[in-house]
Amino acid sequence: QWAMKQIETAKGYETSKPIMSDPPVTSEDVIAPPPTKKRKVEPQGGKHGPLGELYQLPSTSFASHLNSLHGQTLTKGITIQRPPEVQESRLLLPIVAEEQPIMEAILLNPIVIVCGETGSGKTTQVPQFLYEAGFGTPGSDNPGMIGVTQPRRVAAMSMASRVAHELSLTSSKVSYQIRYDGTVSPDTSIKFMTDGVLLRELATDFLLTKYSVIIIDEAHERSINTDILIGVLSRVLKLREDMWRNGKDGPKPLRLIIMSATLRVSDFAENRALFPSPPPIINVAARQHPVTVHFSRRTSSDYVNEAIRKVGKIHTRLPPGGILVFLTGQNEINGVCRRLEEMFGKKAHSNRNLKVAVVPKKTPTDTISHIALEQADVEAEEIELGFDAPEEIPGDDDGGDEFDVDDLESDGDGDRALNEELGLNAAETESFMHIVPLYSLLPSDKQMKVFETPPPNSRLVVVSTNVAETSLTIPGIRYVVDCGRAKERRYDVSSGIQSFQVTWVSKASAAQRAGRAGRTGPGHCYRLYSSALFEHHFDKFTQPEILRTPIEGIVLQMKSMHIDVVANFPFPTSPDRDMLRKAEKLLMTLGALGSPTAGAVGGEITVLGKSMALFPLHPRFSRMLVSGQQHGSLPYVIAMVAALAVGDPFIHEEGLATDDDGDNSSSSPEAVRARRQAYFQTKATHSSLGNSMSDVFKVLSVVGAYEYAGGGHKFCADHFVRLKMMEEIHKLRSQISNIIEAGFLGTSALFTPQLPPPSDLQLKSLRQLLTGAFIDQVAVRKDLVDQNTESGIQYSMAKGIPYRAIGIDEDVFLHPSSVLAGASPPQYVIYTEVVRTSRAWLKGLTMINPSWLSSLGKSLCSYSKPAPDSRGLLVVIPYFGPHRWELPPIKYTEGLPK
Ligand code: CDP
Ligand code: MG
Repeated sequence: QWAMKQIETAKGYETSKPIMSDPPVTSEDVIAPPPTKKRKVEPQGGKHGPLGELYQLPSTSFASHLNSLHGQTLTKGITIQRPPEVQESRLLLPIVAEEQPIMEAILLNPIVIVCGETGSGKTTQVPQFLYEAGFGTPGSDNPGMIGVTQPRRVAAMSMASRVAHELSLTSSKVSYQIRYDGTVSPDTSIKFMTDGVLLRELATDFLLTKYSVIIIDEAHERSINTDILIGVLSRVLKLREDMWRNGKDGPKPLRLIIMSATLRVSDFAENRALFPSPPPIINVAARQHPVTVHFSRRTSSDYVNEAIRKVGKIHTRLPPGGILVFLTGQNEINGVCRRLEEMFGKKAHSNRNLKVAVVPKKTPTDTISHIALEQADVEAEEIELGFDAPEEIPGDDDGGDEFDVDDLESDGDGDRALNEELGLNAAETESFMHIVPLYSLLPSDKQMKVFETPPPNSRLVVVSTNVAETSLTIPGIRYVVDCGRAKERRYDVSSGIQSFQVTWVSKASAAQRAGRAGRTGPGHCYRLYSSALFEHHFDKFTQPEILRTPIEGIVLQMKSMHIDVVANFPFPTSPDRDMLRKAEKLLMTLGALGSPTAGAVGGEITVLGKSMALFPLHPRFSRMLVSGQQHGSLPYVIAMVAALAVGDPFIHEEGLATDDDGDNSSSSPEAVRARRQAYFQTKATHSSLGNSMSDVFKVLSVVGAYEYAGGGHKFCADHFVRLKMMEEIHKLRSQISNIIEAGFLGTSALFTPQLPPPSDLQLKSLRQLLTGAFIDQVAVRKDLVDQNTESGIQYSMAKGIPYRAIGIDEDVFLHPSSVLAGASPPQYVIYTEVVRTSRAWLKGLTMINPSWLSSLGKSLCSYSKPAPDSRGLLVVIPYFGPHRWELPPIKYTEGLPK
């Protein structure tokens, strides 16, 4: 049904023409003419590649096609001038020998799966094969662009520049597009993008008319966007084919190439709902050298120090070769890099005098339950349609195992112990370490450093999150140190509670990580966990993301593509029915969906919902934006939404000693102490805004202050906010403004970085907008509400004042970092997130007037008793009255116009 709807609405096609009445078309008709080639690749060893064995085609059509392919005259080939060193290095890539079978499979089949070991050349080479065959070139048979999706921004950007370099083309010809920026131009031939970008393009151009082929890369990662894309594209392909058969004047049928590391391809290939006839799988022979895997005898919870120790040992005892260390997050990585630099960096080496740190005493543990909850790393930015990560997780009660930054401080005894253990004196170490961090929030120029040749007389050490697991292949790695953990976003279906947790990776991931050591020669992988733990606690594969993240944004996107019965969508792995139902319910509460249609929880998308779907944000945020025009509040709503979507930019106490931006702070104990002291002063300043009514306003004030100060490192250091996040907020503000300008307001220039402080009226309307967006996330102070009941329940206040929240069956508490978490917190709040450690904490609080609830959330209110002793949500309490929003005495007011 939705497919037909798309056909009707698709631009430029005859809709009145009967679609199914044409005579049956043979496969030859559908197959685009074979491309022409300038250059011939010799099939390796004279054999014909794995094509024949791996998929069945009617042998006559296959044969006749091959004939036509070989008999083709070379007229329209694209001439490539590759730099000589590229020419040389690419011949070493296994996939280059498979060019012919791969291209044949692509030309003969609308869908092809290319499967190959990480580093075999899939991402960099397959787009080039297509380009050389004429795809993406105006005037050829397949003039539409070659689109390549990546789950990670880092990969989209670095792969575009790599392929441009290999083809000697400009960045406007081989471009990238990520949420915030891109280099796409009218003459783009190859476009790398995040999967979220392509998903949003589908909302405006369902047939993807600008493309002739789409490559879904890293499909094994099973990111939510990739999964949805594959489901949608399996239908788009059919539409494009039907259209072409009938109209002949539209674009050629679209082709789909799914690329994956050698992991669980069956989810796609054998999914009959997705692909009724199985697509061919091309396996690229791996050129993988043997990797010896070493397990630890015991599993220490202190994997950070274990990793440092292991890297030290490898560096001082083993032959040359790069070391790749897998850790879980940014702070960890920066801490480890700094310590390695102190111990083995260039300076330490030339001093011939090793300064070493710590071996803190930690209880080893072999159980998964003790894995430290580390500070969330905002890896979440990769997932473009969800909430972003909570920045801090309170570690009050069960913080015993948390990785404490103080562990990183120098400790003389520890130094000696480690030196002795390593049998180390500096003179014995021939080379120094060239240490490079790698994680998604690292500025892109720093990310590129991993591909540069390390300086002479040095050993490359890359300390990375799982970005380096399959997305990026770093040259020259011979040793892998694997902590066995990764940070994963968890989402509780029933309570909606979201948290970031360090968990064990899967066996498949561990194998991928080990494999990184065998790219250039035989290698070694040191696993910082025991083989028993690996056997018994590691899952076989990582769970697809769709099973563990909020999916409201995705459901809205799908509804906007007229996929009305979401439950019937051909998901590679179907999400939990409960979660789908919950998402549709929330969308109905927010007014994005109408009353239910047959077979679905929610109905069709409403006009409001359609506007909401235009924003690459959680529907709650888009709801605020589309209704935020009252009292000139829109610029503030935009700033607030941007801040909420990016995440809390404040550096809280735990994060103080680690520095985000790599190079501007010192970590001596004195410096840390000074920073910490200053921080508390700042914190006091913030909370002295006693009349402030919302945590969101606190962030808003910092955004305002930051813009008046003109941004920059110093401002961020002075006020303990993260520069990278402030920059993201700034970018997102201008991006959201652009969307609103283009989509709703015509051309007026909405975005001015500097905002004057909002008026009281505006602040009130902002709170009401927040209430509307989080109308299902209201919490009521239990002691005050229950006072009015006959039972007169007494509460133990030992743990703080308990709140009751809709849909959560336990007491919840205001997070101590909140501006509202004082001695007498408000009776009613709405919250933006729940974070669980030892108990459930509410964060992102806004004090609200309960009388708003009856109009903003009618359907959610129940009237148990008449006021004034009602205990329902309609208790009428005095309005909190006008208040002044004083900005912290930071630079906000300095630049204000006189
Ligand atoms: O996609 P797949 O994992 O199969 O391999 P790839 O990403 O295409 O990488 C092929 C080769 O290109 C690897 O050896 C990478 O190290 C190299 N490469 C590079 O040297 N510089 C880049 N910026 C990207 C890739
Ligand atoms: Mg790749």
